[in-house]
Amino acid sequence: MSDGQEKQAVQGRFITFEGGEGAGKSTQITRLKNRLEAQGTQVAVTREPGGSPGAEKIREVLLSGQARDLGPRGEAMLFAAARADHVDKTILPALESGSWVLCDRYADSTRVYQGEAGVDPQYLDLLETLAVAGIRPELTILIDVPADVGMARVSSRSQKAEGAAPDRFEDEALQVHERRRVLFLDLARKEPHRFAVIDGRQDQDAVEDMIWQAVRSHFPEVDPDEGKAAAKTSESADGALS
Ligand code: TYD
Repeated sequence: MSDGQEKQAVQGRFITFEGGEGAGKSTQITRLKNRLEAQGTQVAVTREPGGSPGAEKIREVLLSGQARDLGPRGEAMLFAAARADHVDKTILPALESGSWVLCDRYADSTRVYQGEAGVDPQYLDLLETLAVAGIRPELTILIDVPADVGMARVSSRSQKAEGAAPDRFEDEALQVHERRRVLFLDLARKEPHRFAVIDGRQDQDAVEDMIWQAVRSHFPEVDPDEGKAAAKTSESADGALS
């Protein structure tokens, strides 16, 4: 999107997932994708930072900590640069093709993570406007877990991955994670129509159901019975239904 103009003529639906470390976003994104696909919806899953070849390169620089010397403002610029490419190369084309896009983190993560690190909110607003070029989520699922619960999940995950080191943004004191949690909840309070806040301490099936309810109430075209009906029909395709 080199002309810097805001794009509007998109057909698919854009849903973002947000939350602190260990909230369980990726599991739930997969579950929502499966449910939507079961009712015939085309779904693209993507993530930030990353989601396009150029943005994945910036991801590597950011998460390895190589950009730490730039300071939080410089890092915020890199997140924005990655986002601009991601919107251009992945999100917008998918939406234009009629696909639903489920994105693991988006601009709210910058507001929270780089905001918590001290970057001026007006500076972040400006970067966001440039990076997203009008492509904003219709629904944001915020999976909320207390910082200690999330970090315990992350550390058990790293142990299973045989000592994988925490990335640049995981590797912070518990108070930092707790402040991020508060900032996410503040954003949700400011935009209650866009956000659905889900209690991520529940078991995965319960979280999945809460998310499905939020999606249904946000998008009336989602029919709760259609997915099940489609699955049943294909199971008995050679059977009684003729
Ligand atoms: P990732 O491995 O994708 O973690 P997670 O499973 O928590 O989503 O790492 C992304 C990290 O980058 C995560 O710690 C949050 C951070 N981040 C920011 O600081 N600003 C941003 O704008 C984005 C998108 C992510």
